[in-house]
Amino acid sequence: METTEVDWAALEAAAVSAMLNAYAPYSKFPVGAAALTGDGRIVSGCNVENASYGLTLCAECALVGNLQMTGGGLLRAFYCVDAGGNVLMPCGRCRQLLYEFRAPDMELMTTQGIKTMDQVLPDAFGPQHLEEPR
Ligand code: THU
Repeated sequence: METTEVDWAALEAAAVSAMLNAYAPYSKFPVGAAALTGDGRIVSGCNVENASYGLTLCAECALVGNLQMTGGGLLRAFYCVDAGGNVLMPCGRCRQLLYEFRAPDMELMTTQGIKTMDQVLPDAFGPQHLEEPR
């Protein structure tokens, strides 16, 4: 369990910075996401859309790719913003993406304040289910 404080303002700034890189010509809804890793790195990502709309990559997809490409590890705190810098809730698919890489005490900034991963994705399916006998 980490004991140092989460710098939420730094995460917000990283999410806004990531959002400015978004490629969202179809929805015109740029998104940026940033997270603090267990070893103190900040990883981030933006949404990248596609002319074949269903292939759109959410900002969280880039974030977990960035996590893995920069040393791996787990996510301790998460912040996602829209074009106005307002807090954005991760979509359902992205909650699952984040769940895979959650630190045990992971927190997310939400429109209702700071919440745990378990609060935003209760009773989640995860790697543990692949290991348990059915
Ligand atoms: N989007 C994200 O990047 N993350 C989310 O959690 C919610 C939705 C993007 C996908 C699409 O490019 C745009 O927002 C509108 O849905």
